Amino acid sequence: MSHPAPLRFDGRTAVVTGAARGIGNAIAHGFAAGGATVVVADLDEAAAAAAAQEITSVGGKASSLGVDVTDEAQVDALVAHAGTVDILVNNAAITTTQVVEETDPEAWRRVLDVNLTGPFLCSRAVLPGMRERGYGKIVNIASVAAKRISFNAGASYTASKAGLVAFTRHLAYEAAPDGISVNAVCPGPVLTPMLAEMADEATLNARRKSVPRGRLATPEDQAEMVLYLASDRADMLCGQAVDVDGGALLGWYDTDTYFERRRAAR
Ligand SMILES: NC(=O)c1ccc[n+]([C@@H]2O[C@H](COP(=O)([O-])OP(=O)(O)OC[C@H]3O[C@@H](n4cnc5c(N)ncnc54)[C@H](O)[C@@H]3O)[C@@H](O)[C@H]2O)c1
Repeated sequence: MSHPAPLRFDGRTAVVTGAARGIGNAIAHGFAAGGATVVVADLDEAAAAAAAQEITSVGGKASSLGVDVTDEAQVDALVAHAGTVDILVNNAAITTTQVVEETDPEAWRRVLDVNLTGPFLCSRAVLPGMRERGYGKIVNIASVAAKRISFNAGASYTASKAGLVAFTRHLAYEAAPDGISVNAVCPGPVLTPMLAEMADEATLNARRKSVPRGRLATPEDQAEMVLYLASDRADMLCGQAVDVDGGALLGWYDTDTYFERRRAAR
């Protein structure tokens, strides 16, 4: 079997928001390994600096900036810091966990602000340069919650991610004529600090059972798809929201129950 050449991003600059840890961090490492110059942008300035340092320590090209993606001036400063932005990954996100009637309106607004307005502001800031150069890749990190509901987070998160998928579709249509591709990745459950903070071991086991592949995804599983969507090999993908979930969205029972029912039906 012949394997395709590894994805390369030499000469490209990739900005990844929320890249200090978790999925964003794996994405940043992936781009750097492919030869890109990476900007680690994160609210947590110290963690972003440490993450960039880690990339350079293994031979990659990276810098960092403390950025709140909801702040227009900070987003402009991010684009100025990066210089040319060929690739933007909108990955930073937060959640609320309460049921709707117990959700503080301010917390709701903040989730929508970070998860939806943040990607809008970052995209808005990089688009003029991308249009001018006739080249750009934007990848939004949504969630399978966009297509069903979130299991661990609250309705604010589900609504923000559904909005992000809709934003992806609309922006993809507007940007495609200028050589800019916009797509989204919808991770299923991924073992990251965000999930580990929200779920106990029993919940994690239940989540594992809901994934036909039989395991939770890793940040690297998500990074694989992000890198592909940001590469020229994905040129004809436009406004897609790709589920990277090991089949979790395909069924609505865990696989043990599914096979029990098949056996009972023999
Ligand atoms: N972990 C999962 O199971 C899972 C599942 C589906 C989707 N996702 C999505 O994947 C992405 C990454 O998730 P993760 O689990 O790695 O999260 P995480 O909490 O581990 O990392 C998120 C990063 O974003 C940063 N951040 C938060 N607010 C910010 C802001 N206003 N400006 C800039 N940076 C900010 C945080 O400092 C943090 O470093 C998110 O979009 C999340 O919604 C995660």
